[in-house]
Amino acid sequence: LYIGIDLGTSAVKLLLMAADGKIENIVSKEYPLFFPHPGWSEQNPEDWWTAVVEGLKELTVSCDKSQVAGISFGGQMHGLVILDEKDEVIRPAILWNDGRTTKETDYLNQVIGKDKLSKYTANIAFTGFTAPKVLWVKENEPDNFARIKKIMLPKDYIAYKLSGTFCTDVSDASGMLLFDVEHKCWSEEMMEICGVTGEQLAGIYESADVVGTLKAEVAKELALPETVKVIAGAGDNAAAAVGTGTVGDGMCNISLGTSGTIFISSNQFGVDKNNALHAFAHADGYYHLMGCMLSAASCNKWWMDDIVGERDYAKEQSAITKLGENNVYFLPYLMGERSPLNDPYARGTFIGLTMDTTRADMTQAVLEGVAFAIRDSFEVARSLGINIERSKICGGGAKSPLWRKIIANVLNIKIDRIESEEGPGYGGAMLASVGCGEYATVEEAAATLVKIVDTIEPEPEIAAKYEEKYRKFAKIYPTVKELFR
Ligand code: XUL
Repeated sequence: LYIGIDLGTSAVKLLLMAADGKIENIVSKEYPLFFPHPGWSEQNPEDWWTAVVEGLKELTVSCDKSQVAGISFGGQMHGLVILDEKDEVIRPAILWNDGRTTKETDYLNQVIGKDKLSKYTANIAFTGFTAPKVLWVKENEPDNFARIKKIMLPKDYIAYKLSGTFCTDVSDASGMLLFDVEHKCWSEEMMEICGVTGEQLAGIYESADVVGTLKAEVAKELALPETVKVIAGAGDNAAAAVGTGTVGDGMCNISLGTSGTIFISSNQFGVDKNNALHAFAHADGYYHLMGCMLSAASCNKWWMDDIVGERDYAKEQSAITKLGENNVYFLPYLMGERSPLNDPYARGTFIGLTMDTTRADMTQAVLEGVAFAIRDSFEVARSLGINIERSKICGGGAKSPLWRKIIANVLNIKIDRIESEEGPGYGGAMLASVGCGEYATVEEAAATLVKIVDTIEPEPEIAAKYEEKYRKFAKIYPTVKELFR
C-alpha cells in the first residue's frame, strides 16, 4: 500500500493506493487560511502537521498497516517555512498566493535584472515565489531572519517531521527562485542575493527518491511500521501531472484547484524567453513549462459560498444553458494575478451588467472568466510554438461537467478526464510506489495506472462564439488595470 499526501491550501487530502492503483481510502482534513492584510496569505505549518497526523490515522484505520510501504507528497508550492535551531516554526508560512513582496520582486526583476535571474534559475521573480519572501523577512522581520536555521517548502516540512530528513525535490525547489533548474542544484548567486547559506537549504532529491523512513516516535504514534519509506514527492502541480499521466514529452494537464494551472511536460529543458511561463523541473526526471493563475476554483467558491450563498454548485450551474452567448465578463484576479500578467495589483471585476442580467449569467461569467484566464497562458504556450490539441484535467473544479465543457470550447481542445480525479494525491501515491520499487520509472507507473474515462470534444459552433468572446475578454484587463494601482 502507498500513501499520497496532497498538502493543499484549503485542506490536506490523504489517499491510500493499492499496488494495482486502486484507491482504497481517501481522507480530507481542513485547516485555516489567514489573510492578515489584503493580499497576504498565511497558514500555520503546525496546523498542517496536526491534520496530516490525524488524517494518516484515519486513512489507515482499517487497512493492514504492515502492508504500508511508502508515503509521498504533492504539496502547495513556493510557501516559505522557516525553522530555528530547535526546529521550531519561526513565523506562519507565507503562501504561494501571498502578494506582499512587490518591493522585493521589483528589486529582483529590475535591480538584479530579469536576464540574470533567468540565467541563474530559469525564471524571473513573482510575488508568490520563495526568494522574494526571504528578502521580505530579512527587511521586515530582521529578528526572525537572524533565527533561520532551515528554509523549507510546505510538503518538505511534513517530510521532515515524518522522517527527520531535511529534504526537497527538484520540482518544488524550482519554484523557490533559489534553484538552478537546468542543472538541478542551488544557485550560489541567488543564495548570495538573498543572504542565505547552503546549510539553510535542504538536500535535493528527484521526486521518486527515498529520503528516509518514519522516525521511531512517529511510527509509534501512527501505529505504522518503522520501515515505511518516505519519498521526496513533488510540488502539487508536478504531482498532479504524474497523477493524470502528464509525463514524458508534450503532454498537457489543466488543474482547477484554488489556483489554476496549465502544465506542459517536456523531456528537454527549455525557457519561455519572456518568462511568462515558469520553467521548472518535473517529477518524472525531466522538465515542464507552467502557467499559474492565482484564483481558479477559488473564484467559484468565493462567488457561490460567500456571495450567492448556494452550496449546491451543480444546482446553480444547471441554470446555465447558453454557452458562448453571455454578455457578462468576469476578471478572476481575486488575489492579483501571476501568469501571464505578473500583476499583484490586478483585481476581480464584473463587466457588462444590464437590467436583465441574471445570477446565472454572473455564475457563468465566473466559470468563463477562469477559462479565459487559462487561455491567456495557453496563448503564451502557443506563441512558443507548442501545439496542444488535448489536455488532461484535474482539481476540485474539474468535477463540474459544465466547467470542463466551457474549458474545452474556450481553448478549443479535447479535454480528457482521468479515472482518479485526485491529481496530486494520486500522483503522490504513484511516486511512493516508484520509490518503493513497484515500478521502475514514473513514466512506467503512469502508463500502467492512469486511465482516461471520457473525453470532451469542443463543438465548432460554441468554440467559434468563445473565440470572439475571448478577444473581448483580452481587452478588459489592459483597459481597467490602472484603476487598481
Ligand atoms: C504554482 C502555484 C500553485 C500552488 C497551489 O506555481 O503557485 O499552483 O502550487 O498549491
